[in-house]
Amino acid sequence: MNDSVNSGPRTSERIDMGDEVRTEAARHEPAPADALETSPANAADFVCLETAETQIFLEAALGERPRVIYSGPSIGKVSPQELALLSTKQHAPGSANVHLRGSLLNELGTGIAGPSGFKAHRNGTGFAADFRVTSVEKLGEHAIILHCSDPNTQIDAQHHFALTPSSSIFTAKTTIINRSSEPLSVEWCSALCLPLDDRLDKLFGFTGRWAAEFQIEEIDLFRGSYMRENKAGRTSHDSFPGLLAGTKSSSETSGLAANFHLGWSGNNRVRVDQHQDGRTILQMGEFLFPGEIQLERGEAYTTPEITAVWSLDGFSNCTQRLHNFVQDELLDARGLNRPRPVHYNTWEAVYFDHAEERLMQLAEQASAVGAERFVLDDGWFGGRRHDKAGLGDWWVSEEVYPQGLHTLASRVRELGMEFGLWFEPEMVNPDSDLFRAHPDWVLHADGVEPVPFRNQFTLDLTKQAVFDYLFDKMTALISEYDIAYIKWDMNRDTNHPGSGNRGAMHQQTKAVYCLMEKLRGAHPKLEIESCSSGGGRVDYAILRHTDRFWASDNNDARERQSIQRGASHFFPLRITGSHVGPRKCHITGRVFSMEFRAASAMFGHMGMELDLLDESEEDREILRRAIALHKQHRALIHGGDFHRLDAPKYFNAVGCVAPDKSEALFSCAQLDPAPMTLPARIRFAGLDPDRSYRTKLVWPMRNTSITEPSIIDQANLLGVGSTFQARALMEHGIQMPLIFPDTCLIFHLTEA
Ligand code: GLA
Repeated sequence: MNDSVNSGPRTSERIDMGDEVRTEAARHEPAPADALETSPANAADFVCLETAETQIFLEAALGERPRVIYSGPSIGKVSPQELALLSTKQHAPGSANVHLRGSLLNELGTGIAGPSGFKAHRNGTGFAADFRVTSVEKLGEHAIILHCSDPNTQIDAQHHFALTPSSSIFTAKTTIINRSSEPLSVEWCSALCLPLDDRLDKLFGFTGRWAAEFQIEEIDLFRGSYMRENKAGRTSHDSFPGLLAGTKSSSETSGLAANFHLGWSGNNRVRVDQHQDGRTILQMGEFLFPGEIQLERGEAYTTPEITAVWSLDGFSNCTQRLHNFVQDELLDARGLNRPRPVHYNTWEAVYFDHAEERLMQLAEQASAVGAERFVLDDGWFGGRRHDKAGLGDWWVSEEVYPQGLHTLASRVRELGMEFGLWFEPEMVNPDSDLFRAHPDWVLHADGVEPVPFRNQFTLDLTKQAVFDYLFDKMTALISEYDIAYIKWDMNRDTNHPGSGNRGAMHQQTKAVYCLMEKLRGAHPKLEIESCSSGGGRVDYAILRHTDRFWASDNNDARERQSIQRGASHFFPLRITGSHVGPRKCHITGRVFSMEFRAASAMFGHMGMELDLLDESEEDREILRRAIALHKQHRALIHGGDFHRLDAPKYFNAVGCVAPDKSEALFSCAQLDPAPMTLPARIRFAGLDPDRSYRTKLVWPMRNTSITEPSIIDQANLLGVGSTFQARALMEHGIQMPLIFPDTCLIFHLTEA
């Protein structure tokens, strides 16, 4: 600190004393010379990442703290200097003599009173890091690394920023490096402290539980903090690390909107804090157990990556760009380059009751209605006749399959389907040969009683022997049975993820990615689904290693509408596993028609998970037609631009529009009775406003209107349809017929 700061007038103290005369005097006292926040005037001290949609301006003067000047939708030709000047802040009475500018981590050395984005120490010392820019490394036009250092605490920080040119997605992560011979304990490091636009006065958090994932929670503007902390050892059902932000008038189709996500499949923390000077700062990072990250000299810790996207055209536009990002940057070609096969999954049909003959009958029925991949779920291996035994014993149960899986797998392939298999590699039942041989192979905290959870423990994949055991067992089975697909499950929280009595969730999470990658490397066509008691482990990190995710164990079609709508903010339909469940839902006990169940699964990576032998002939025929319709429009559903429509809450309306806008498919599901005598009009979105579209109703294949005639008859929607101008469909909207709740209408539009 320089002298003038120390000797400057103590304006704040006078005001705090409440002495009016002296307060008045204080107002007229000149502010200390350096109380004004000044920014460098030199253009070279700023870094810009820009696309047509987005601008990120950073101040990165050498020797100074780096900071974000602007991040958000492009505001066109402006200079970062003028934005910095426009945001000049001054001394405020009652606070530090200088305005505290903060940095990219608001680390403790900056003096910022609000929550810090970086906490580390060396056995209790060196807690106040203060990073200053040492160099700026440009990686082409759209990526940079800001190298920063703090000679005092001997810690380096590298901030990695990129803006994807095609989808304008901003990504950021931070690497911390220990430069001292004394070990450094990192307790918290946000990927970045990201200032939020002050117009974003409405947040939408993600919450949920098993069988009710991706529920959106509206949060009004607050003073203080919003924080979610997840220690489940998986991405979490309850605290998915995603956040939307908008204004009170932002909608799916208009207004300022933003979407933030942390790509990490272990523990996480998401927080938004409004600091006392009015700044709102977002932090997202990995929750670390005390002592979990201990860096020796030269060692580094890199945070998970945050993604951010902003739009002036509402939340659906953010979604479309994120979906493109997922496809362009995260997903592997093996799943992208061919149509997504319709699944048949055995779980809800047989649970643990595996019998070869019955499974073959199910395979026949599945193929008859149009399945293209048959996935044999839990129960095929070791002593796994129930959920209390067998996990870890990855060999085919001779008791159930005396000839191995060859008979079933061959029959499945004869029927024209691929063969997929369920694994839960990271888990072990105490009642298993594996655990009996290696009771020390599980994550645990010494002296701490393990939390019972689905009768299983989490294996310690940071141990090479465990990793090798799993790889060897899995790769052998994949080769022997020509397995095309693994449903990779993970069914418990890992409460005490200790290895060698230190927190190890970070290393464990990386080991899981590594095992997936090693298997993918060994089997170039193998696809992997990420499942964790439904949608408990899906995020932008696991998607770098997997090809699909299971959105929820809940196949209740009505619940699925909201689960899938929530998930759609981040994940494209082509990877969102959505299955037709049994007539009476096993989780909610509710009964739904096949028409509604099938329609609710159609907008995703479609599949089925029901006892087909128990369904009526008529319902199997309806299912067959639904699958045929899905296949007919699969390229559009999986390759089109996805739109959530703005509609009354008793409807869930979404659609896919072809990139060239020549056709579209809209799904309008009525979930509750309308409060008025008649339901509302629904406005389609994403069409070319200057074109006209022939509009037809393609599902259900009958007139579901309660009274007749209705628009269905009047516009001949079930026949040749009617042609409407896109502006009429988007601005005026289409009247929904009077239908019972739990009816889903699917409209197909083709350019006229
Ligand atoms: C989890 C999955 C289900 C099923 C069971 C098998 O709950 O989410 O789909 O695979 O495990 O035990």
